[in-house]
Amino acid sequence: MSERVWITEVGPRDGLQNQPKILTPAERVQLVRSLDRTGVPCIEVGSFVSPKAVPAMANTDQVVAELGNDERYCALIPNLKGYELARAAGVRWVTMVLYASETFSHRNVGMSKVAAEEATAEIIRRAKEDGVGVIATASACFECPYDGATDPAVVEGIAARFLDQGVDVFVVADTIGAANPGQVKSLMQSLVSQHGAERLGCHFHDTRAMGVANVYSALEVGIRRFDACIAGLGGCPFAPGATGNVATEDVVMMLQQMGFDTGIDLAALMSASALAEQLTGTAPGGRARAWLEKNYRESA
Ligand code: COA
Ligand code: ZN
Repeated sequence: MSERVWITEVGPRDGLQNQPKILTPAERVQLVRSLDRTGVPCIEVGSFVSPKAVPAMANTDQVVAELGNDERYCALIPNLKGYELARAAGVRWVTMVLYASETFSHRNVGMSKVAAEEATAEIIRRAKEDGVGVIATASACFECPYDGATDPAVVEGIAARFLDQGVDVFVVADTIGAANPGQVKSLMQSLVSQHGAERLGCHFHDTRAMGVANVYSALEVGIRRFDACIAGLGGCPFAPGATGNVATEDVVMMLQQMGFDTGIDLAALMSASALAEQLTGTAPGGRARAWLEKNYRESA
């Protein structure tokens, strides 16, 4: 049997949060349902953040209510209030954001790195009681748009603290797409040697066209969990210079051709990609778009 790689589809959150066109809850549900049909094991369906800060993510509770509380759905939260809102909506998995950079933490959520860590510790404690899974995503792990290069030792410190506290998954995020495969190999190899690969994941943006190369690099040192975004959408309103995430279709194509099992149907994924383009009007599509459309277009 081929080896499994777990993809988390972040399109309905990272993909939509920075779009000029704000989708309605019904359109967001339509996108999630289309992604559901691909077989992807986890979908970040939205975020419980301030609607003033990120208008595109307003009404995530409505999206969740419409979808139902499937074990495959997770939602991003920035603080304890976000946890409470997600919990009230019945979400089974939350993704809490941590920071490798002080300025990015202030710009993104108006709190210090330490305050975000304290909130995360409390969220992990409550989530264990509530039976909610927690993913902690450390942002700006390679470079911060404000503070410049990130010291890998900072990321290693955050990872150790939260893996020790029993977070279910710890994701290393290249929020602005600045990492190169050499840096990814070195950091992820070090983390794998200290903690094992089981609970580690990676989140890459494709700003400098190294998204797929970075996935490969992490894969080589044992990482088997990756975030990716349908049609290469994505970007953070508080991280200037970042473009879209690495496209799910590019990552799945590479993994499938290398013999890994993602559980994802590429033809269904191309249909979801076409829908993402249609709904947003701006999705770039994956870098292998022409080849994928030729080979995996679903028969109508
Ligand atoms: N969801 C919804 N509303 C929230 C909230 C949450 N998670 N956390 C706080 N709020 C509300 C407060 O209740 C308050 O409401 P009020 O004005 O009606 O009283 C308002 O937001 C301001 O709260 P405050 O604690 O002063 O926070 P702030 O204005 O500094 O904003 C965040 C802090 C975290 C809410 C805001 O910066 C945010 O939502 N950031 C998310 C950024 C993001 O999603 N980035 C991309 C993904 S990493
Ligand atoms: Zn991102």
